[in-house]
Amino acid sequence: MIQCAHAPPGMKDQITLTRERVGELRLSPEEQAMLEGAHGPGIQRAMEIVVTLGRIYDARDLVPITHAQIAGVSYKNLGEAGVAFLNRWAEEGARVRVPSMLNPMGMEADRWQEMGIPPEFARPQLSVIEAFSKMGLQPTLTCTPYLLPQSPVHRGDHVAWAESSAVIFANSVLGAYTNREGGPSALAAAIVGRTARYGYHLEENRRAHYIVEVRCPLRSIADFGALGYIVGKQAGNGVVYFADLAQWLPPLPAEIADGGVACDRLKTLGAALAAYGAVALYHVAGYTPEAREFGERLIRPDAQRLIVQNLDEGYRAMDAHPDLQRVDLVAIGCPHASLSEIQRVAEMVRGRRLKTRLWVTTARLTRERAAELGWVQDILEAGGEVVADTCAVVAPMGLLGIRSMATNAGKLACYAPAHSGVQMRFGTLEQCIEAAITGRWPTEG
Ligand code: F3S
Repeated sequence: MIQCAHAPPGMKDQITLTRERVGELRLSPEEQAMLEGAHGPGIQRAMEIVVTLGRIYDARDLVPITHAQIAGVSYKNLGEAGVAFLNRWAEEGARVRVPSMLNPMGMEADRWQEMGIPPEFARPQLSVIEAFSKMGLQPTLTCTPYLLPQSPVHRGDHVAWAESSAVIFANSVLGAYTNREGGPSALAAAIVGRTARYGYHLEENRRAHYIVEVRCPLRSIADFGALGYIVGKQAGNGVVYFADLAQWLPPLPAEIADGGVACDRLKTLGAALAAYGAVALYHVAGYTPEAREFGERLIRPDAQRLIVQNLDEGYRAMDAHPDLQRVDLVAIGCPHASLSEIQRVAEMVRGRRLKTRLWVTTARLTRERAAELGWVQDILEAGGEVVADTCAVVAPMGLLGIRSMATNAGKLACYAPAHSGVQMRFGTLEQCIEAAITGRWPTEG
């Protein structure tokens, strides 16, 4: 049995699949051979998953993918059963056929002792990475693969990505095609190099169910997170068309990997839409690739109009513990921080001495670039950390003694209390850094 957690729009959110269900999925002779075990049990297992999903969602065929991104990498989420499952798959000879990357795990690969991670967590976590590496996955350990130098995905590519914030960025900002895969289904797609053609792989499912008009200014990353909260709560798993958002977005840089204001705002917006709803695709009129190409033809005739008058509801909900004055950790970089976000933090803390622990979480390669530019050193000298491979949700925060956090990231404000039981303050980057410097949450942002 396979649990499908994030069905595309119009489909049940939770569907229990069994092999007995038969659809009219057409397979090529090579695909049929994989399904029958001609290429070994590991590939057969992967093809069974892809085909079962295809049959459930009435796919007519499979579509080749150019890239995969696999979530569910932290031992905190996998547990012993997950580790055993991955090891078995690797031992069965499963190997990925397309470039495939990993989401963050529960610690830094080579600095876990320094982080305070106990060996009982570190050992199984490292064996997870070993199993993935055996299958040919690149241990990029980031939720922002699109921020790596030479983004692996481009307009029109079909991919199988699992991290929800990356899925929505790929669909919306890069103009690629991916469903919200689960960890096992993304891995299965990577192993057979294909995924079933349904959901967001089909043009007809990329049209908007909601037109959103925003009647208030959007000045910060936190504002975009609050907007994501409000719209995500209402839109569920629908496709969203933002009618007037482009006025708050400078042009995207030629190289997405450089980050920048627009990129940082859009990744934050998407992460919150995906976390508080299950949105996997949004369009920004006149701005995102499909909106530029198709304009209002992307709006369904029966689309509902949502008006956002202000962001208060988002701030109220995400700033869950407004009486909290001191936090154990200020966490910036969810999704993983871009180069421009690291630069901003470095400039804000340069020459200061922090009173509260500060993590800026990012991809290892982004940290290397930021280190070359001196920004990592600025943060370290102030007493903060630039943490790679992990984040404040998938790391075992309880084991690190973290009971309360502050952030400017909508998704982190959603997940950290649920996953780690922490108390949460949510606000602007300025408020968060002020809290890190003074040890107290500022009264005004
Ligand atoms: Fe990434 Fe962790 Fe946020 S995986 S999207 S930084 S919860």
